[in-house]
Formats: sequence, structure tokens, C-alpha cells
Amino acid sequence: MSGEDRYVILESAGASLILDCAVGERARILYWGARLSRPDPKQIETMLTRQHAPGGPDVEIASSLLNETGSAIAGMSGFSAHRNGQDWASRFRVTDLRRMDKQGIEIVCEDPNTKVRATHVIILDVAYDVMTCQTQIENFGDQPLAVDWCAAICLPLDPRATRLIGFTGRWADEFQLEEISPFTGSYVRENKSGRTSHESFPGLLAAADESHEQGGLCFGFHLGWSGNHRVRVDHLNDGRSFVQLGELFFPGEMMLAPGQIYQTPDLYAAISSSGFSALSRSFHSHLRQSLMADRIARKPRPIHYNTWEAVYFDHDPGALFELAEKAASVGAERFILDDGWFGSRRDDTAGLGDWWPSEQIYPDGLAPLIEHVTGLGMEFGLWFEPEMVNPDSDLYRQHPDWVLHAPGVDPVPFRSQLVLDLTREEVCDYLFERMDKLLSAHEISYIKWDMNRDVHHPGSGGRPAGHAQTRALYGLIDRLRAAHPDLEIESCSSGGGRADYGILQRTDRIWTSDSNDALDRQKIQRGASHFFPLAVMGAHVGPARCHITGRRLSMRLRVATALFGHMGMELDLLKESEKDLATLKAGIALHKKYRPLIHDGDFHRVETPAHVNAVGVVAKDLSEALFSWCNLTGHRGTLPGRFFVPGLDPDRAYRTKIIWPDPALSVSRPSVLEALELSGEGAVLQGETLMTVGLQVPLLHPESCLIYRFEAA
Ligand code: GLA
Repeated sequence: MSGEDRYVILESAGASLILDCAVGERARILYWGARLSRPDPKQIETMLTRQHAPGGPDVEIASSLLNETGSAIAGMSGFSAHRNGQDWASRFRVTDLRRMDKQGIEIVCEDPNTKVRATHVIILDVAYDVMTCQTQIENFGDQPLAVDWCAAICLPLDPRATRLIGFTGRWADEFQLEEISPFTGSYVRENKSGRTSHESFPGLLAAADESHEQGGLCFGFHLGWSGNHRVRVDHLNDGRSFVQLGELFFPGEMMLAPGQIYQTPDLYAAISSSGFSALSRSFHSHLRQSLMADRIARKPRPIHYNTWEAVYFDHDPGALFELAEKAASVGAERFILDDGWFGSRRDDTAGLGDWWPSEQIYPDGLAPLIEHVTGLGMEFGLWFEPEMVNPDSDLYRQHPDWVLHAPGVDPVPFRSQLVLDLTREEVCDYLFERMDKLLSAHEISYIKWDMNRDVHHPGSGGRPAGHAQTRALYGLIDRLRAAHPDLEIESCSSGGGRADYGILQRTDRIWTSDSNDALDRQKIQRGASHFFPLAVMGAHVGPARCHITGRRLSMRLRVATALFGHMGMELDLLKESEKDLATLKAGIALHKKYRPLIHDGDFHRVETPAHVNAVGVVAKDLSEALFSWCNLTGHRGTLPGRFFVPGLDPDRAYRTKIIWPDPALSVSRPSVLEALELSGEGAVLQGETLMTVGLQVPLLHPESCLIYRFEAA
């Protein structure tokens, strides 16, 4: 390949990627950004020529797809490996280029000295601008190769993207965005919890200073991997910046025998020239169309009733029968029996691993309850935590050697449970057989797949095996799904501790957070929405007094919050007042009415004052929209501000109404409600005016939420 052939251009609706990949030379990205209408790689290359920096090397140190150690580029290498202290300075050169189709390219690079082959696969989603990047490392030497780090790719960051926003959080407060103060040097987040973690979701946003939800240049990065990871940005002193995401290994974990290949997880990276919400829509569409195939579209997402916060471990079939009836009467479509149904599991200290119905609680097995639930017209779902075992269990007594551990190191106590070694075939066979037996015997169409502890010492046979454990987990889920193709699965890990595009390729929903506190949820769901669409985000109406925060919140607010997600409930319906049950029932009916819009529409986060969270969905044909406006706290001004509704058709008029709560709230009268009849027939308002003049919001109490509906007149 020579001359112009050295350049590869991938283009999507809004993005261009231009690579320089001459055979025999180092592959590098010349441009990744907004779509260029007349891309001229040669010209771009000339324009990017860098001058000599005094006090620096005599030659330009170009970047490459991995900025590998041998390249000598400053900042952390995207690939570092060695053979017992030798062969540590790989420097890759292109040996082959394989066009996959117009969307993708495979770039094969090699270093004949260190005998390592790096094959990069880059695919650009033509419709949604999301790029998927992966690298495969092959050891073609005759000695084992220790891979210490390999990013999925090193992506150069547009110098205008000076704002960096990372993700942080904790249990029951996941997906919190964190603006990073400007720096030179590095930003690093590392997670070695054996799941995506509550603290360090594997995602990152970068944006120009002026970018906001509805406009401006921004970039998003997400690693589709359910285990340990590193997120890293290096700002070099020479003005270049690189983003790397990849799998984090324990010491000596990734040893490649001669001929063996390591494949990185996929990195999903997208660019938007129209703000953060548009960036999220790209990620949502890519996930839905390319990674979850028809699994979202297949059927409406049923309203859940989950037993956890209603009964915890106190399973009484009589009460569960009654709860099922109550749940069906308010509109539930799926009943999920949570933790506590199996073995000796009467609290969280025993029974994990013994996956058969407790003979003490369910003497006739689960069939009577399942039949009762399905007889009420609901689907039945069941909770499992397959990877875990309590030392106080029959399984552990029989197979104490089946757990992950580091030789000579005591396990860190964590919810009285240990982690099974899924890399052992017999362990997965046991779990598959137990689960398959129940799924085959009963009408169980859904499982909640939980994972409730960090994996501190993922050792198997004396060696670290975090990577192998995550791959084995994927294998086990895939095997179960192959045997039960219609089975739906929720990925839960003490709430949102395992949420990513890797797990979502084999599951259907994430349990966004253990916190059902509607105020916390407003923020958690907003954070998660940067990468996850509403249809996969589990959102439940919890009890009046939140069990985790102790806060009391109205049913109206709890309903309005759960409505913008995959809605469900998780409270003791037998203890709720008739008034609250009626509100709940009305809210569920509202969700069902607008479910296609909520789950298939285009998602928007609204720019608001700090005391407000506002999000919404607009139909693809712009014919209708639903938005929620939530006053999280009070505000300093005497009156609230205006609601600038995004995403409408400026040329159409919309009948504008407040449909929740009914009647709409306003603290003072007369208010905008009367002026515009917003709680009655509604007002017909021009799309352009709604978008650019904004609609005065009624004066609200703190902790209250309105839902607006816009219908093209
Ligand atoms: C985790 C989950 C909860 C519940 C409990 C059961 O914490 O996140 O929703 O299932 O486990 O033990």
C-alpha cells in the first residue's frame, strides 16, 4: 500500500475518523471529530506538522494507536508488556489492513523484535456516530509474554475539549458526575472491585468550555466491560491529550503463552457537535440497535413488582399471595421474588449457593406462588446471586475449594459471602444445572442476577484471574440464555454496581441503584442516562419513608420519578393508604399510556437552575413529548424560572398540558396554570416559542415534580 492508500477514512452521519496506516509505518489517528464534508488526509497531515520543541527530541515523536512503550511518547503507554524483563519496548508497524466494510477497518501491526502482534479493530456506527474500538494482542514469540496494560486504543482528544467530566459515586448513590479541574499530567480512575463498581463507572465525558445539554462539542467514552478497569487521560506538555480505557490487571494476571491472544474489551467512543443530550442519544441508539438487537423492541417493558423492600427475608407465602394480588390490582405486569426463597437463606449470613426452594418456607416448592402470579396475569421473576456462596451453606460445606482466593491471604469479610471461581468448569456446570432446572420446571421468564460484594482477591490456582472470571461470567449467562432464549435478565450488583455495555449484550435491564429515594434517584438516573436509555434503567416506587435515606417523600414525587425509566415498585402494598394506592395506580396507568414514547422516544436532559432536574422524551417524528420538571430543593428567588423545552419542532404548535399530578400543583394563585389553562384543556403554543422564549413554571414546593405533555396540534 502506498501513496493515498495509506489513508483510511471512516464516516458516519456526524463523525469522521481519518487514519494514517501505511504498511511498514506506525498507524495513527490524524483526525477524529465532527464529520468533514471534504476530508483531505494529506492536507490534514501537513497541517498537523509539529515543530521542534527546544529542549526536546530532534525528531517528532508521533502518536500511534497504542502509544506503546517503544514509541517513547510521553504520558502512560497504552501498551506495556515484557518477557521476564526482556522485550519490554514494543514498537508496532502496520503489516496489513483489512477493510471490513465501509464501516470498519482491521489494522494489523507487528513488532518483529518483541514478537508481538497488535490487531486493532475499529468500527464506526454509520447512523449513530459511535465508534467501537478493540485491540487483540498476540504473542508470536516462543516465551510467555506478560501484558501489564493494554488500552482498547489511545484516542487523541480534540484540544478544544478542555472540560473533563468523570464518574464517581458510592453504594446507593451511583453515576455521579464529577467535573475535573484543569490539569497537566494525568487523570486516572482505577477500579479493581471485580464489577464496574459504584465508585468508578467506566465512562468519561470531554467537552468544549461552552458546551451544554443542547449545544456544543462533546465526546463520550465507555468501556463495555463488567470487571476491573482503568480510565485515564494524559495531557502532555506538548499540547496533545490522549484518552485510554482498558482492563486493569492484577500483577502477572495477563500472561500470554506462545500463540495466545488477549482481546481487550470494547471501547465505545462518540462525538457530538450538538451537546451532551445528543451525545447520549447516540449512545442510546447504538446500544439499542447494535448491541441489544431486538431485545428492547420485542415487547413493552412490563411494570415490575419486586418483593425486596416489602418483605426482605421474611417470606410468608400467604402474605406473598396477597402482595401479588395487590400488585396486579395497581397494574403490575411482572412479579419478582427477591432474595430469601432458597436453601437456609433466612438472613444474609447463610444459604447462598443452595439454589433450591426452602423446604421450610415453600414445602410445595415455588409452583403454587408462580401459578398464583401467572394466574393473575403477571410474569414471574426470580432472584439469584449465582457467583456467590455463604460459608454457611451446603454448597460451601461440600466444596470449600470452589472459591476465588489468594494463597495465604484471609478473605475480606463482605456481606458474609465469598466469590465462586467461575473459571472452573465444574462450578459453572453446577450453577447452570441448578438454574436450568428451575427455569425448565416453572414459568419463570425473568431473573434478577445479583452480585453483592467486591472481589478483592480474584485468585484461581494461585494466580490472579479477574479477567478470566468476567469472561466466565459472560459464558455462563450466554449458556443460560442459549438454553432459554426468551429469558430476560436484570443485571444488579447491590444496585448499579455492574452496569455496562458488556453485560447489556446479554441482559435486558440494569438495577440502577438500591436507593429508591426519589430525590436521590433524580440525580442517579440523570447521571446514568449519559450512557443508558430509560428503557433499561430499573426505577421503582419505594416506600414513603425511604429505607436507605430515611427521607419521607410524597407518592406523587415517587411515581413521577420512577415513571421515567423501566418502571416498577418495591414497597409493602399491604401497608399503603388507599389514597396512595390510588395515586400509584394512576401513575402506573400513565406510564403504560406513554410507555412507547418514554422507551422509544429521543431523550433530553434540560439545562435548568441547580435546584431543578428536568428530563424528557420527544417522539422521533416530533409529534409529542413528555417532560418532567422536578424541584429538588427550594430556590433563592421569589419565583421559579422558565422551562425552555428542547427538541420540539419549531414550526409546529403543541397542545401543552401538565398531566401529573392531577390536578397540577401551584403554591400561589393566580398562577401560570390559570393563565394558560395548563392543568385543564391545555394551551396551544408554538414549538419555537416553547423552545426559545420558555414557559413560566408554576411556583412549587421543594421535592415536587410536574410532568408536562406536548402534543402537536
Ligand atoms: C442487593 C440488591 C437488592 C436486593 C438485595 C437482596 O442489595 O441490589 O435489590 O436484591 O441484594 O439481598
